[in-house]
Amino acid sequence: MINKNSPLPIYAQLEEQIREQIESGILGPGDTLPSEREFCERHGISRMTVRQAINNLAKAGYLRREKGRGTFVSERKMEQQLQGLTSFTEDMKARGRKPSSKLLHFEIVPAVESIAQTLSIPKHDPVYHIKRIRMADGEPMALETTHIPANLVPGLTPEIATGSIYNYLEEHLSIAIDYSNQVIESVTASETESHYLDIPSGSPILLMQRDTFLKDGTPVETVKSAYRADRYKFVTVIRR
Ligand code: GLP
Repeated sequence: MINKNSPLPIYAQLEEQIREQIESGILGPGDTLPSEREFCERHGISRMTVRQAINNLAKAGYLRREKGRGTFVSERKMEQQLQGLTSFTEDMKARGRKPSSKLLHFEIVPAVESIAQTLSIPKHDPVYHIKRIRMADGEPMALETTHIPANLVPGLTPEIATGSIYNYLEEHLSIAIDYSNQVIESVTASETESHYLDIPSGSPILLMQRDTFLKDGTPVETVKSAYRADRYKFVTVIRR
């Protein structure tokens, strides 16, 4: 199945074959990948070549390595709908996953220029600065940095921020969230992001910036969420 005369490098051919087996379901989440030696023997190729194919698939999130145990097929990526203005907590519950958050930072600070502008408040007005690791069944999914105007949202505490902020706004303060502007771009994980998200430094990240407003256009939050690109894909329905 490996064509040594092909212009496509051997590692790329092997990579493609393994990827196809994963995408077609021949290899399912949690399955063990054959050992490097088995691939070498089966195809008569070098260990370096096999390693390169496996490395690329691990970087792309198809495979995960566990020290001393072997290489496994990763869980399927979560599909995140782009149509609805939903919270992380709602997204996880809708999938039957248990949401939780680890609070890394919670402080009321004077708004710097850029944040004040985005939130349409005077510079130095108090804002909550919140940093959370968002998790599904205990596994880190996203690192989220949130700024919220403190005068608009009284009484937010670290305990509340460990749960759902949207739930607090809507259920406790009766603040009606109306719409968001959202931008998604691809970046690579910084040292900090890779540390908190438990992924190799330089891994792909989907950076989602969301500015959320009330009906009258008052900004209620500005959020940067760094989602693991190996665990997430964004999907949407488009019509013509
Ligand atoms: C998502 C959005 C954030 C929003 C958050 C609220 O993660 N990307 O912009 O602030 O949901 O989630 P929760 O209500 O669970 O705190």
